Amino acid sequence: MKIFLDTGNINEIRDAASMGILDGVTTNPSLVAKENRNFKELLKEICSVVNGDISAEVVSTELDGMMREARELAKLDDKIVVKVPLIKEGLKAVRCLKAEGIRTNVTLCFSPNQALLAAKAGAYIISPFVGRLDDISSSGMELVHQILTIYDNYGFETQVLVASIRHPMHVVEAAMMGAHIGTMPYAVFTQLVKHPLTDIGLERFLSDWKKLQK
Ligand code: E4P
Repeated sequence: MKIFLDTGNINEIRDAASMGILDGVTTNPSLVAKENRNFKELLKEICSVVNGDISAEVVSTELDGMMREARELAKLDDKIVVKVPLIKEGLKAVRCLKAEGIRTNVTLCFSPNQALLAAKAGAYIISPFVGRLDDISSSGMELVHQILTIYDNYGFETQVLVASIRHPMHVVEAAMMGAHIGTMPYAVFTQLVKHPLTDIGLERFLSDWKKLQK
């Protein structure tokens, strides 16, 4: 499974990229707004640091505006994947952008039918938001399972990106199900490497080794 960071923070991205296991980045308008930087400059910097797909979202909600924004974003770098909301106009945009060779990440997916339509429109990536579904007592991971089954049934090539990840168990479940990508906040990414028994074991090895040096 590819591991993406869900952030607009360049320091977090640099740190994760330095580990050599970062496959891409997703941003959204809320994450970018937190950084208080020029959007395009920020995207260019992210593209210079990460070797993988970088999702950047349009904010228009009608076709013409989405197309205009998408073309501008795609021009910035070959790594850019344009994020489009899962609404009627968004699906139209996905179809038109695919015809122009621009890859899309269809975002804010909360149902298997929405995911089916996105794949039929030609989405490069579909983003089911698992955490936000869990928040309203609906199973986010069940949605991922449904989408993977539907895509497998019909051989759709759209990649399933598990979004709105809140904790390491979401990552485990996504990987067990065979999702293509998991995008997560930096805090969850850093939790993946940690285990208390690793820390205890290492401390013991080092203190035993020190005794030998006496
Ligand atoms: C995905 O691309 C979205 O940016 C993100 O995962 C949303 O997560 P949230 O529900 O934690 O805001």
